[in-house]
Amino acid sequence: MPYLKTDGDVWDLECVDRGRSGIILKLNPTRVLKAPLIIHNMDASEEEKFEADYLKDDNISFLENEKATFQRLGYYEHIVEWHALRSGRIKMKYMSYGPLSRFWQYHTPSRKQLHSWICSIAAAITYAHSRNVIVDDIAARNILIDDDQSAKLCDFTDSAVLSFDVDISQESQDGASIYTDIFQFGSLVYEIITGKRFDFDLFHPSDAEEKHGEGIIPYWPDKNQLPLISHLDYGATILKCWKRGFEDMSSVNAEIQTYDRL
Ligand SMILES: Nc1ncnc2c1ncn2[C@@H]1O[C@H](COP(=O)(O)OP(=O)(O)O)[C@@H](O)[C@H]1O
Ligand SMILES: [Mg+2]
Repeated sequence: MPYLKTDGDVWDLECVDRGRSGIILKLNPTRVLKAPLIIHNMDASEEEKFEADYLKDDNISFLENEKATFQRLGYYEHIVEWHALRSGRIKMKYMSYGPLSRFWQYHTPSRKQLHSWICSIAAAITYAHSRNVIVDDIAARNILIDDDQSAKLCDFTDSAVLSFDVDISQESQDGASIYTDIFQFGSLVYEIITGKRFDFDLFHPSDAEEKHGEGIIPYWPDKNQLPLISHLDYGATILKCWKRGFEDMSSVNAEIQTYDRL
């Protein structure tokens, strides 16, 4: 399927993967470009073309948002390394092992490696919050495995870059907050430890309320909607993440470090 540049030309680079709003194109053996997902469908009806234009505009703004987020975050060892932010594209390091969600189809990571991934992602989210960024969309498909098999956080299309004047713990954007980030981190740790996804979506349109004038209110699960985890390594921490038991991500980070003797 041909993917288009924002000016309408067809990309002539190999597509590594695509997500909800972006495509990843291979520039050379060590670099990729992320560009907005724009699909070319010659047989589309007028209505479909209208819808596609709408999506195109959305995807362009998602990429612009990601650029602003990278600019705020700069370089950090547990975040995917970016090299240039150009018009309609982001140049990044190519992560040869792909996303974590696919890594374990072909590899069996050791316990030590799982612990180091959990620590890296906890550190990356803590760092983002310290830069007044709410990450949002923290999931195994958005964790990339580098050549040395370390884990890096990627995909900041939905992130909220807040002004430095505000107290991030009091803020939310489209329902996302540091507490929804902590919840998603808990679900990620659950997936890393059990290999099973806990796909509870706090922003599921039919559950998350959209109150008049108040924006989206996330829908938090009841106790009976959570899997049983008390017997698991990291179980107590995961449960606290799911039940809004942490004040901030630094506290989650500190608690995660205590599992290093497992
Ligand atoms: N730097 C990279 N190197 C290799 N693969 C990548 C890289 N960045 C993203 N990907 C792959 O592309 C997919 C989509 O990228 P992502 O940034 O999550 O886009 P979207 O915002 O559309 O979800 C990821 O899930 C991952 O599989
Ligand atoms: Mg993604």
